[in-house]
Amino acid sequence: MNDRLIIFDTTLRDGEQSPGAAMTRDEKLRIARQLERLGVDVIEAGFAAASPGDAEAIRDISAAIKHATVCSLARANERDVRAAGEAIRPAASGRIHTFIATSPIHMEKKLRMQPDQVVEAAVKAVKLALEYTDNVEFSAEDAVRSEIDFLCRVFEALIDAGAKTLNVPDTVGYSVPAQWGERMRQLIERVPNADKVVWSTHCHNDLGMAVANSLAAVMNGARQVECTINGLGERAGNASLEEIVMAVKTRRDVFGCDTRIDATQIVPTSRLVSQITGYPVQPNKAIVGANAFAHESGIHQDGVLKHRETYEIMRAEDVGWSHNKLTLGKLSGRNALRNRLQELGVVLDSEEALNAAFARFKELADKKRDVFDEDLLALVAVDASLDACDRFKLVSLRVCSETGETPHAHIVLSDGGREIRADEFGGGPVDAA
Ligand code: KIV
Ligand code: ZN
Repeated sequence: MNDRLIIFDTTLRDGEQSPGAAMTRDEKLRIARQLERLGVDVIEAGFAAASPGDAEAIRDISAAIKHATVCSLARANERDVRAAGEAIRPAASGRIHTFIATSPIHMEKKLRMQPDQVVEAAVKAVKLALEYTDNVEFSAEDAVRSEIDFLCRVFEALIDAGAKTLNVPDTVGYSVPAQWGERMRQLIERVPNADKVVWSTHCHNDLGMAVANSLAAVMNGARQVECTINGLGERAGNASLEEIVMAVKTRRDVFGCDTRIDATQIVPTSRLVSQITGYPVQPNKAIVGANAFAHESGIHQDGVLKHRETYEIMRAEDVGWSHNKLTLGKLSGRNALRNRLQELGVVLDSEEALNAAFARFKELADKKRDVFDEDLLALVAVDASLDACDRFKLVSLRVCSETGETPHAHIVLSDGGREIRADEFGGGPVDAA
């Protein structure tokens, strides 16, 4: 079987369906250029029939992008397909992605169409799309709740009609990995001429299984995954691109395929998308979260300092971080403290000095959740026997501030036991003090 996994990024289409994540034409273009740098195979740039602005953004992206296929979504009707066809016209490589729902609930309650009418509309849409490009994808919306016999019938008709990619979406995020893998396996086995097309999967994350379901489909023959940066997308989002890509890369032994993604562009892309959409990335998000390569416990930190692979299965640098991170807190050990101080240019000249600094560090870490570099420098400055904290003591402070009066402060400090007093006026009580 082909070992290339096609990465179809839909951040600019399904990702934009995240509430409040709408992007301007210019923002979409910036993200598309970064997706090209990242090395995605297909950029779904939008839904041309949705608005004139979206059609223009797809046209701009089509004109600008040279190394990825640019795609527009279209419902299976003439207006949508023609709008998509026009929008991708400037593309070096363009695709039309047309879809219609195939589940009983969608056909009956939403489309109010009979199954035969659905097949007819899908075939007609694919044939019309072929007038614009020979790269046509068809999606059976809500495939997860569609009957397998009907799905086979629809897909067979669309291979005959000339579709090149057949996408099997879990539109509502209902499946579980074993079931989803089995569905892909059955489709490829049962649909005649299945080897003439690329099988694709598109999973939503309503039960938190979008990535696992997508990977189960890959293990059963899917060779295109539809995904988004940071897992953005309708409701709970889509399968996250960074997780899919790093899973197949790190576990090639399991998946037997790879992508053409430049993984070092993953973190910059994640940041750009987060900044433009205003969707923050949770700190413990795999691959792109701030803590994805941060080690907190002393045992882990010691292990990583001795041999990185004791606690890391990927290198932070390989996905675009500048380095991994040993966070200093109450669980950290002596070795991590020494290492961090060395990175800050502080070399303690004896084990006693390190022990003293470590004791103060632990005291501070009990009071403060994160110990920053500035805290560490202050700790060792104390050790350099400046002992500013011991020398100066605040004896008392009185501040007066009332309407119509200039704020006034009276302060008493002790400098090694000698009292110093001062009175001052100021613009406000803090200023006076
Ligand atoms: O979730 C879905 O089914 C979709 C299709 C349009 C592919 O986004
Ligand atoms: Zn979707």
